[in-house]
Amino acid sequence: MTEQDFILRSYNTEIESGSVKWSSPSNIALVKYWGKRDNQIPENPSISFTLSDCKTITQVTYSKKSSSGLSFDVYFKGEKNEAFKPKIQTFFERIQIFVPFLKDYHFKIETSNTFPHSSGIASSASGMSALALCLMSIEQELSENYPKDFFNRKASFLARLGSGSACRSIEGELVVWGQNESTESSDLFGVRYSGEIHPNFKDYQDAILLVDKGEKQVSSTVGHKLMFGHPFAKERFSQAHHNLEKLKGVLASGDLETFIKIVESEALTLHAMMMTSMPYFILMKPNTLEIINRIWKYREENNSKICFTLDAGANVHVLFPKNEKSKVYDFIKSELVAYCQNGHYICDSVGEGAIKL
Ligand code: DP6
Repeated sequence: MTEQDFILRSYNTEIESGSVKWSSPSNIALVKYWGKRDNQIPENPSISFTLSDCKTITQVTYSKKSSSGLSFDVYFKGEKNEAFKPKIQTFFERIQIFVPFLKDYHFKIETSNTFPHSSGIASSASGMSALALCLMSIEQELSENYPKDFFNRKASFLARLGSGSACRSIEGELVVWGQNESTESSDLFGVRYSGEIHPNFKDYQDAILLVDKGEKQVSSTVGHKLMFGHPFAKERFSQAHHNLEKLKGVLASGDLETFIKIVESEALTLHAMMMTSMPYFILMKPNTLEIINRIWKYREENNSKICFTLDAGANVHVLFPKNEKSKVYDFIKSELVAYCQNGHYICDSVGEGAIKL
């Protein structure tokens, strides 16, 4: 598919006003997206677990207007929010060619997250995917014969233009994004991973340890740019291809030992890229390292399959199979909570993707 396939030339239904609502989850990458070209095209393929409980809920109320141009208001947790407007404005400008009805309506966007906004958890994936899905529902109402496959693809395509990782939040349980040899995925949108998935990965758990709840030290936009002219970029991009390929085998065989190696190495490589870019950044905190060391020790001593991954920040995602749930939460409570800011952590697990409300 090309970008052209997502341009709808005309609508065949007239609607004055209406309202749509979606709940869309966050996701956690196993093979990381880090580095992009113009138009949100990733430099390498990535794959993520879709989460279940960390979600954004967005309602879009639309009413026909006569004036030209984009018009919208944003409400966050019931209060008018000006701070979110510029990002949405940029998003709307980028996607307007693909959803031409945008200029015909005024939109009231009401949004809230199930997780604390200041938790340092990226809300752009759930936020942008929820908004993209609302726009797709409106487009569906304005058009006849809207195939479901196309709906999801275009929702992911639009979400990507808001925030790259958001394109992996439409479906579950695993989503691949980015051109590669062995899956049907594309640079333009994420697709549900259709390869074999061993029962070991069913209901995989993710405990998100909030080490630092502050604003991100480096925004992802700035972070991705650091990969331009990065001395190790070429090797990194090709490593991501290899890791995705290897992970496919692991997902089918249920080989948790190799899963751990790939996932932890991806997380550390992401941070290594930031430490070796110019300018350079250390996004881990001392407590991030304490947690990692304790996870390794616990794994060794308990023959556990627990592992960690990181986003572009200090928080730690602790991943583990469901059969270890109660033991791992005992371990988190007795040993790891001490390294979390105000003792905060979020219990999540792999989910099925966005839901229309
Ligand atoms: C480290 O999707 O937040 O979480 O496309 O600029 O919005 P933009 O970036 P974003 O980058 C996320 C990067 C990551 C890894 C990942 O989720 O794959």
